[in-house]
Amino acid sequence: MTSYADFHRRSIEDRDAFWAEQARLIDWQTPPQTICDYSQPPFARWFVGGRTNLCHNAVDRHLKDRADQPALIWVSTETDQERVYSFRDLHAEVQRMAAALRELGVKKGDRVLIYMPMIAEAAFAMLACTRIGALHSVVFGGFASGSLASRIEDAEPVVVVSADAGSRGGKAIAYKPLLDEAIELSRHKPSSVLLVDRGLVPMNLVAGRDQLWATLRERHLNAQVPCEWVDSTHPSYTLYTSGTTGKPKGVQRDTGGYAVALAASMKHIFCGNPGETYFSTSDIGWVVGHSYIIYGPLIHGMATLMYEGLPTRPDGGIWWRLVEKYKVTVMFSAPTAIRVLKKQDPAHLTRHDLSSLRSLFLAGEPLDEPTAQWISGALKDKPIIDNYWQTETGWPILTICNGVERAPSKFGSPGKAVYGYDIKLLDDQTGQELTAPNQKGVIAIEGPLPPGCMQTVWRDDARFVSTYWSSVPNRMVYSTFDWGIRDEDGYFFILGRTDDVINVAGHRLGTREIEEAIASHPNVAEVAVVGVADQLKGQVAMAFAVLKDASILGDQAALLKLEGEVMKIVDGNLGAVARPARVRFVHVLPKTRSGKVLRRAVQAVCEGRDPGDLTTMEDPAALQQIRDMVTPA
Ligand code: PRX
Repeated sequence: MTSYADFHRRSIEDRDAFWAEQARLIDWQTPPQTICDYSQPPFARWFVGGRTNLCHNAVDRHLKDRADQPALIWVSTETDQERVYSFRDLHAEVQRMAAALRELGVKKGDRVLIYMPMIAEAAFAMLACTRIGALHSVVFGGFASGSLASRIEDAEPVVVVSADAGSRGGKAIAYKPLLDEAIELSRHKPSSVLLVDRGLVPMNLVAGRDQLWATLRERHLNAQVPCEWVDSTHPSYTLYTSGTTGKPKGVQRDTGGYAVALAASMKHIFCGNPGETYFSTSDIGWVVGHSYIIYGPLIHGMATLMYEGLPTRPDGGIWWRLVEKYKVTVMFSAPTAIRVLKKQDPAHLTRHDLSSLRSLFLAGEPLDEPTAQWISGALKDKPIIDNYWQTETGWPILTICNGVERAPSKFGSPGKAVYGYDIKLLDDQTGQELTAPNQKGVIAIEGPLPPGCMQTVWRDDARFVSTYWSSVPNRMVYSTFDWGIRDEDGYFFILGRTDDVINVAGHRLGTREIEEAIASHPNVAEVAVVGVADQLKGQVAMAFAVLKDASILGDQAALLKLEGEVMKIVDGNLGAVARPARVRFVHVLPKTRSGKVLRRAVQAVCEGRDPGDLTTMEDPAALQQIRDMVTPA
């Protein structure tokens, strides 16, 4: 067996040979001629000359050996439905959806925006897009009309695929009115909206624009839509993510590099076997859902379990019941979900036969030691594997690659640099590399980014370069915007973001977006939003606002009402996921003499930490006011 150190070294030093080998894990219509073209850094082009198709690799290619094996297992504890689609069924459904999209005018290179709850049709829609070479842009169903509108405007979709409603805790959440409002707000108007009617809430259809999936599906019941072979570098999708500025970025992914990266990760990291069942508890609106609910497991010939519902309903044993019933071998979740389950009756874990399960992967936010210890004990010492990555990379940057060489985990560390990633820890002021162990620096990746990572920002190459490749002085490296340290054994520890991104229950949110929503309240003059440590959610957003009419500052009832109004604006604009835990009203915000809001100091005070050097602060009373507010009497 190769040692992991050798495997990693080879992926960097003999890059093309390494990835040429990995490329054999997928089907190509035309094999690649050039493995990596890095002639125009930082833009990497992987498997140039190769032609392939993501949907072919996820679906069609398995028809030969496993047509009647499960491909998509859909379980909804919201509507009490459970349905297993074999690869043959999935193939048929995806072709029906592809034919429907074609009928609505979707062509290769066009965008289709998918705003869907966790239902099987969402998976059909994604696969149908890549089948015909159209780009999907999935928007998380928890986002509201403002977020949706900005994404519609940027992606300019020909068609939006949506549904009447999602459901949470047994309560229907109407999607259609939010979508109508978003289209109203957006300068770009999709020509058609394809709607799945689940019968949860009534829908008002817009004549000439809105189409029902059931009708189109019926019309295309026997559709045969062959996969469109596309260049390896043809974009497969965009997925919006938050950063420092309010405007979300469309992370653009290629086709061939992504397929190879996922196939390789299924082998070397997740250690799944074709024919087994993979269960990721994420949502298709996030990158984990793209890579490890839809594409990764299916490309690898595994059945994927797609779950709509809460982890605690009908009871806290539901996920374990599903593991037992569908013999899940690989499971992927987030620390927040495990913290929720930890509060449930421990008997739920012993009541079910979990012998099929080999490992549990956790990602998206720091895995704290008590949570890791608890779940490790509860799962009787099955490996709990933390993995660190980003929407931008599409697959893990740091983890333990047990498929290459088994290695122990260290509590608090997601592990070592994954093959393909040439990781550097850099001083954020000088750009100098920190090679000695246990020094704090910015986690950066030396170009080219490996296959599967973002190609660029959708329609904005300049923003790709200026955002990701120009933030460390004196170096052209990709910045993850995360602080980290590396110990003497090469294990990394993540120490939080260097920018204004916060992580609430594993959901990545930009504080600037929340600030913009709050500032739209007529009585808000100025606002600062910071992420504050939280026992359950990892972090929560806290807002501090300055009012235009400060006369109500002493009136607690009026302030409470105002807080409610502000939260409603955030809910309506961005969605409840972005709602701050509290909105507090202050006389002034702490600023530097040059007028910059001292968010870090506010955050430190909220967390009961020392705010550090405040010599540049204009008015110390501003911070004191916040300290008095957040310190328990
Ligand atoms: O700050 C890091 C944190 O989540 C960010 C990326 O979030 P997102 O784009 O939503 O992608 C999630 C993909 C799993 C990172 O910049 N993060 C992600 N995983 C971890 C993490 N922080 C600590 N430990 C992790 N395992």
